[in-house]
Amino acid sequence: MLLSSTAVIHDEAGLKNAHVIVCGNEKGGSGKSTTAMHIAVGLMNEGHRVATVDLDGRQLSFTRYIENRQSWAREAGAALSVPRHFHVPPATRDLAAESDGQELEQLTEGLARIEHTHDFVVIDTPGSDTFLNRLAHGMADTLITPMNDSFIDFDVLARVDPSSYEILEHSQYALSVREARRRRRIADSRIMDWIVVRNRMSPITSRNEQRVAKCLRHLSMQLGFRVADGISERVVFREFFPMGLTALDAFEEHVLNHKPTLSHLAARQEIRDLIASLRLPTDDHGRRRADVRRRYAEAMSKPLELPDIFVN
Ligand SMILES: Nc1ncnc2c1ncn2[C@@H]1O[C@H](COP(=O)(O)OP(=O)(O)OP(=O)(O)O)[C@@H](O)[C@H]1O
Ligand SMILES: [Mg+2]
Repeated sequence: MLLSSTAVIHDEAGLKNAHVIVCGNEKGGSGKSTTAMHIAVGLMNEGHRVATVDLDGRQLSFTRYIENRQSWAREAGAALSVPRHFHVPPATRDLAAESDGQELEQLTEGLARIEHTHDFVVIDTPGSDTFLNRLAHGMADTLITPMNDSFIDFDVLARVDPSSYEILEHSQYALSVREARRRRRIADSRIMDWIVVRNRMSPITSRNEQRVAKCLRHLSMQLGFRVADGISERVVFREFFPMGLTALDAFEEHVLNHKPTLSHLAARQEIRDLIASLRLPTDDHGRRRADVRRRYAEAMSKPLELPDIFVN
């Protein structure tokens, strides 16, 4: 069952619960942080209240991305929306059980401060099997797994026969997602929507990529995930990290001195298509909020006129 039509889910006490989106894949470098940032910005641009969480406490790429965005907004005077953000630092205790407890406490405390005041929480995870990573997968309403278009990345989900390309067995990560889903259903009867996103696709489809796509389709039926239209390999997805910008921002005003290229526009469209294909619980409120924020930002960039000052 997919959630639809309402922006915010209400629990029994009538409190708003944010919809949790987790970007996860135990394969490093598959595009989790990049995807998390683009989805967070895309949702904020649509007017949703978005909070973000970085569980990759060693690398902190997602945290830096957001810090860079905040600094750039200040320095360039750009009207950029920045999510409320926190990260969970690596535990400092010697015993594994104590470390897990410390991390759990940090995460639950952080989430308690945002889960009732935001529409979406976007969580970025490390490319390894950690306690926090498993915990996050168990909380996901939507799990997004970006993967590069190659059999090395596919191997994190399943092993295939080298001659027939039949699926031989499910890999550890796929099994742990299945387990997280099962526990989630038992805990609160919610069904996690799992979407695998093909990332860094090349403009010319090779035979290898066709095979990966075909294997993904077969595997999606076995494991119950959906395959989203992919994100292409494009410079725009990595060039703006120092400024904290994404393909969705109006970077032509702040960075480029020319109009966006066709590649920029195509990148924007890919992200918008990806967000649409997630089928998140969004509604008209979000769009109205986005409109108000845009008008406010426009008004703030104009100098005050005398009548405004007298009226205020
Ligand atoms: N579609 C894309 N086009 C071009 N470059 C990309 C694309 N997606 C990601 N990258 C680049 O690939 C690298 C890995 O991306 P990213 O850091 O988002 O992956 P990750 O899964 O978060 O990695 P890790 O497991 O190390 O946390 C980065 O240099 C990023 O800029
Ligand atoms: Mg990362």
